Formats: sequence, C-alpha cells, structure tokens
Amino acid sequence: MEVTFTEEQEALVMKSWNIMKKHPGDLGLKFFLKIFKTAPAAQNMFSFLRDSQVPLEENPKLKSHAVFVLVMTCESATQLRRTGKINVEDSNLQKIGATHIKSGVTDEHFQVAKTALLETIKETVPEIWSSAMENAWGEAYDKLIGAIKCETKRSS
Ligand code: HEM
Repeated sequence: MEVTFTEEQEALVMKSWNIMKKHPGDLGLKFFLKIFKTAPAAQNMFSFLRDSQVPLEENPKLKSHAVFVLVMTCESATQLRRTGKINVEDSNLQKIGATHIKSGVTDEHFQVAKTALLETIKETVPEIWSSAMENAWGEAYDKLIGAIKCETKRSS
C-alpha cells in the first residue's frame, strides 16, 4: 500500500540523523539498553550476547545491530518519500525477517524497540525534537517493520 511521506518528514529524519550519527556507537548502545530495560529476556535472543565474555556495553555487535536499525529506518524514510513504499526487492528484508523469527523476536519486541528508538532520539537531539519529528521517525519505522513482516509471511 502506498503512503504519503513528505519531503518535510524526510528532512526531519535526516536532520536529526545527521547530528546523531556523529556518535553512532554510543547512540546504538543507549537504544538497546532501553530495550533490555523493558524486555530483559530479549538479551538472550542474541547469539553474540549469549556467547560473549565481554560486558554488554563493550560488545561491538550489539552496537552495529542497533546502528543498522537506525540506518535502515533512515533509508526507509527516503524510499517512502520517493516511492510511497518500501522497496522490498532491493533489500534483504526477507532474510532479515527470517532471522528475527528464528531468533524469537516478536511483534512486542518491535513495539518496545519503537518506543526505545523514539526516546533515544528525543534525548539525543532535544533542541530540535518535535511531535512532527516523532511522527516522521515513527512512520518510517512502522513501514519498515510492516515490510519485513510482509516479506516473511510471503516466504513462509
Ligand atoms: C539480527 C536488522 C530489530 C533482534 C539482525 C540482522 C539484521 C537485523 C540485518 C542480521 C540478519 C542476518 O544475519 O540474517 C534489524 C532491523 C530491525 C531490527 C532493520 C528493525 C527495524 C530488532 C529488534 C530485535 C532484534 C527490535 C530484538 C529486540 C535480533 C536478533 C538477531 C538479529 C536476536 C540475531 C542476532 C544473532 O544472534 O546473530 N537484525 N533488526 N532486531 N536481530 Fe534485528
């Protein structure tokens, strides 16, 4: 289904991302620590956390997964503005969906992650935060998750 995602919405996402990406590792850690605060058991779904000897805070894979979520949400904003939908062919969404199902990630986890994502952005760029910015990030994230879920259903 096509949606209207405006240039202004894309600009709000990119404006905040351009500031946030200066410290992507710290940002990613903050984001996932928030998720684990709400859903502590989610830590055990990550093989690289289960098998790791280093503390959570120092795990590079946790940070890179978190940054991946942020970057993909930004890319979704751009795709939505350009085409009104998430371009599934061009991406690895099917593989990503399958990995999440296999790891035990549920809709609830994706919702917890949405709240954590929005809170992290609000705390990182409070000077430019607005409800319009919140809506733009929220919509780009929802559409990305929707596309991941849709692809997973199609392939199963
Ligand atoms: C793995 C992206 C949200 C948990 C992955 C991988 C990618 C990815 C690219 C590696 C895929 C592969 O190796 O095939 C994303 C994106 C998300 C998202 C784009 C949201 C837009 C989440 C959330 C959770 C989660 C909310 C849980 C709270 C996991 C787990 C793995 C994984 C457990 C497997 C890690 C491992 O054991 O190696 N994700 N992810 N993801 N993701 Fe996500």
